[in-house]
Amino acid sequence: MGGPRPLSLTLRPGRDDDAEAYIRLIGDAWAEFPGVIFDVDGELPELRALASHFAALGGMLWLVEDGSGMVATRPLREDQAWEIGRMYVAKSARGTGLAQHLLATAEAHARAQGAARLVLWTDTRFEAAHAFYEKAGYVRQGAIRILDDLSKSLEFRYTKPCRGLVVEAMDAGAAASAERRLSEILIACVAEGASVSYLPPMGREKARGHWKRVSTEVAQGQRLLLVAWWEGVLAGTIQLGLESQENQPHRAEVEKLLVDPAWRRRGIGTALVQRAEQAAQRIGRRLLTLDTRGGDAGEALYRRLGWAETGRVPDCELDGARHLRDVVYFWKRVG
Ligand SMILES: CC(C)(COP(=O)(O)OP(=O)(O)OC[C@H]1O[C@@H](n2cnc3c(N)ncnc32)[C@H](O)[C@@H]1OP(=O)(O)O)[C@@H](O)C(=O)NCCC(=O)NCCS
Repeated sequence: MGGPRPLSLTLRPGRDDDAEAYIRLIGDAWAEFPGVIFDVDGELPELRALASHFAALGGMLWLVEDGSGMVATRPLREDQAWEIGRMYVAKSARGTGLAQHLLATAEAHARAQGAARLVLWTDTRFEAAHAFYEKAGYVRQGAIRILDDLSKSLEFRYTKPCRGLVVEAMDAGAAASAERRLSEILIACVAEGASVSYLPPMGREKARGHWKRVSTEVAQGQRLLLVAWWEGVLAGTIQLGLESQENQPHRAEVEKLLVDPAWRRRGIGTALVQRAEQAAQRIGRRLLTLDTRGGDAGEALYRRLGWAETGRVPDCELDGARHLRDVVYFWKRVG
């Protein structure tokens, strides 16, 4: 394994006469998966003139000068969306940061051309790719595409909004695909002492366990999970606990408001709470309750948004430094 190398020097627009390099990269990658059949002339004739292919679609293609990686992007017709595709990195160049550089290059081009959403399709068998895209803030959304090709391919659709501040509700599949990135955010928030049930240091496994339970409860309809993207970065989240007692069908609990420490004070927390309030109202949960640590950023945020304090329990929980802190209870009517 070589260490990171100077990347920006080696990436250039792809040309039609780079066909051999594209065919080698894609052929080698597909050969790693039993049952995936690579038939250039039968199924992928565009590889013989790939730069022209993407130019005709209004898109763009890049190749690493030494042939170790490629990526492309092109506009789709709906949603101001652009598709990222043909993302391949040779085995010898994996783990070097090249893949991130390729993806960032394609994303930056699409955004500069006006993309509001990025979309990509990836074979259900390419698990390393799923992890890679999930770390980059993409979530799995929509139906699985069934291709009538020689490999009998099934493809997941991954997507993320990439412009401004966007909050979306996750279905069960999207929630499961967000577990990796949400774990990073939870670990970072716990590390800086957030009041979210856990104490630092929090390991990956415990964080994944938390989000797995959340995805399961989303699937069961017991929980609503909202996620916020800031300029294409999955930067924050909030949950609505819907499992209420029989005599409180109109109440929901706001839980686990988390904004990545690197993306604070941009209004992301506020937007998440406001969308959670709207979502609650929409599903008939007119009374919201929550608790948060007294004196933390969350307390100021909820007060600003008109939440009323019910009361304060002194010395109720430990903070990151294991000091006892008060917990404040809030409520709000939303319609
Ligand atoms: C609470 C939290 C979600 C706020 O996220 P955020 O995206 O930074 O929030 P916003 O940018 O929307 O902040 C809105 C307002 O909240 C208040 N606020 C936010 N952070 C604050 C801080 N560190 N100190 C004081 N007030 C703060 C301010 O009034 C702020 O408005 P301003 O930036 O115009 O001054 C974030 O700090 C966080 O993830 N903390 C750790 C987890 C946590 O404690 N969650 C609450 C559990 S219920």
